[in-house]
Amino acid sequence: MSSNSSNAIESVLQEQRIFSPSKEFSSKAKIGSLGLYQTMVDEANSDPEKFWGDLAKKELHWFKPFQKVLDWSNPPFARWFEGGTTNLSFNCLDRHLDSERENKTALIWEGEPGDVRTFSYRELHSEVCRAANALKSIGIGKGDLVALYMPMIPEAAIAMLACARIGAPHSVVFGGFSSEALGERLRDGEAKAVITADGGFRKDKIVPLKVAVDEALAMNACPSVESVLVVRRTKESVSMQLPRDHWWDELVPKQSEDCEAEQMDSEDRLFVLYTSGSTGKPKGVVHTTAGYNLWAHLTFQWIFDIREEDVYWCTADVGWITGHSYIVYGPLSNGATTVMYEGAPRPSNPGAFWELIQKHQISIFYTAPTAIRAFMKSGRSVPDKFDMSSLRLLGTVGEPINPEAWMWYRDVIGGGTCPVVDTWWQTETGGVMISPLPGATPAKPGSATLPLPGIQADVVNSEGETVSVNEGGYLVVRKPWPGMMRTIHGDSKRFRESYWEYLQPKDGNFFYFAGDGARQDSDGYFWVMGRVDDVINVAGHRLGTMEVESALVSHPAVSEAAVVGRPDDLKGEAIVAFVSLESGRESSEELISQLRNHVGNEIGAIAKPDEIRCSDSLPKTRSGKIMRRILRALASGQEVIGDTSTLEDRSVLDRLRS
Ligand code: WT7
Repeated sequence: MSSNSSNAIESVLQEQRIFSPSKEFSSKAKIGSLGLYQTMVDEANSDPEKFWGDLAKKELHWFKPFQKVLDWSNPPFARWFEGGTTNLSFNCLDRHLDSERENKTALIWEGEPGDVRTFSYRELHSEVCRAANALKSIGIGKGDLVALYMPMIPEAAIAMLACARIGAPHSVVFGGFSSEALGERLRDGEAKAVITADGGFRKDKIVPLKVAVDEALAMNACPSVESVLVVRRTKESVSMQLPRDHWWDELVPKQSEDCEAEQMDSEDRLFVLYTSGSTGKPKGVVHTTAGYNLWAHLTFQWIFDIREEDVYWCTADVGWITGHSYIVYGPLSNGATTVMYEGAPRPSNPGAFWELIQKHQISIFYTAPTAIRAFMKSGRSVPDKFDMSSLRLLGTVGEPINPEAWMWYRDVIGGGTCPVVDTWWQTETGGVMISPLPGATPAKPGSATLPLPGIQADVVNSEGETVSVNEGGYLVVRKPWPGMMRTIHGDSKRFRESYWEYLQPKDGNFFYFAGDGARQDSDGYFWVMGRVDDVINVAGHRLGTMEVESALVSHPAVSEAAVVGRPDDLKGEAIVAFVSLESGRESSEELISQLRNHVGNEIGAIAKPDEIRCSDSLPKTRSGKIMRRILRALASGQEVIGDTSTLEDRSVLDRLRS
């Protein structure tokens, strides 16, 4: 084990610090004590249907009330709030209009060049209605899938809400994905329309988006796509193909600002969002209307202890689930003020985040550990230049946070007084599952602490038995919850097998396996260790090793590829690829850089390997299975320990070492 990672694990195991919420924070919090949290947990466990049913009635608007809270007669296919009709866009907008919230700021947006736009709830409602009518005018209706491939501009949130308003499920594809990856997602979901922009500003560069859409659609590669709606952002010249393409600023402003929200059944599909799994093909995670809405709404309220005057900022991109649940839907469903930023910290403006906090008086800030570690590395002198006294609460998401980064975040960014909530969840869970409640739960640096009320999380062995205190095992959830994914688009078999039948409990029990390893300490606190499947987490981005491998072998020089993660101080994990070359091909700097770019073209820049090692063959068992355990050890410079007797050709090891 490398000294870095062993130090990190040691320090987590020895972590004993506890930070209890201050009296001041707790006294104002909605859930202000561990006792109250425990009462909620008990209520949820003793009668889950009553618990969720009461909350659903109280927290959401219903056109028609539901008849049944949960139908779990055909697991793992859950049906929540059956018989009810509701609309997510109505819950995020319309219901705030007959109160003082009508003129409250719903969205503060800042572009990377510094342009600012704000929308009151009334204004956002009008924009969403216009966009919804524009979609209708190009033939989009209930049930039609609309793909979004957008920069972080207000139109991204507006388009999502417009889709939800007319019952057209959206499929947001992260703007950093390549045209190949976009095309694959458009085809899999059979998207009928694409909403994009000419480009976006990111790290002082222009990200060309329309060009990538054109490439993805070229030669009728995605025949289901009938129209493309293009927001003008960078004013780069792009080619418009008629009658397929429309400019947003020509089509949307002329629409009526009245568009009634479609009455959606609780289980109507709300969105599909692709994420990586352990095969080469990304999974289209399906979420449905009412359950997802309730989960994004409740979790946002609980973990951020949201108050009317808060200004809340989550630095994620709407292309990921964090952007869906905690930039757009959770905050707006609660009537909060949410901030959206197009840019990123960059050499020309390393203090971009802190400047934004100071400028917009942000009170709640939610970001990823990888960002915190990068800030830590460049030192406190940057954040120290800004007045961040408006902050009262900090959150992290996306990967395990090491205690050092947690402490730095709390001290340097939070001035030593803001509670830190480390929130564990996934695309599949719809919203946060394990997290401190800031007014109730004493925090331990590096632990996501306790499951939210109603979430029965556990750590088990491969036989499905609960392991002992501090013993590592698989992180599972024993009971269905409203925000759970409903299926994988077009592949319910894969849904059942990869999440619900991965482990084979002896007692015939059935539960959701998240793909993560974890342990529970003597206080029942969860310490999430990371993925235990063939998925790596690079700077909070989830990547399937098989996806990167497929990209590599699609290059003519590559015969075989095996991709593993290596612990990395900044990114959590770095991508290391071992490739064997076609005969006659020689490894060279040039080839390696070609291969990296090739992966960038196939998937996107986030998937480019940090290191590529070429050789004539890969270590395999006699039955031809690549021995990843060995490659992981080699990648991180560790001793290859354990049994290597099944290795077919031992000399491969020496060649790979050199
Ligand atoms: C995977 C899910 C959840 C939104 C962002 C990522 C890892 C996420 C934590 C955390 C330790 C975490 C897990 C999980 N993860 N949050 N607080 N502590 N690990 O969503 O792309 O679906 O990835 O991210 O490994 O399975 P995602």
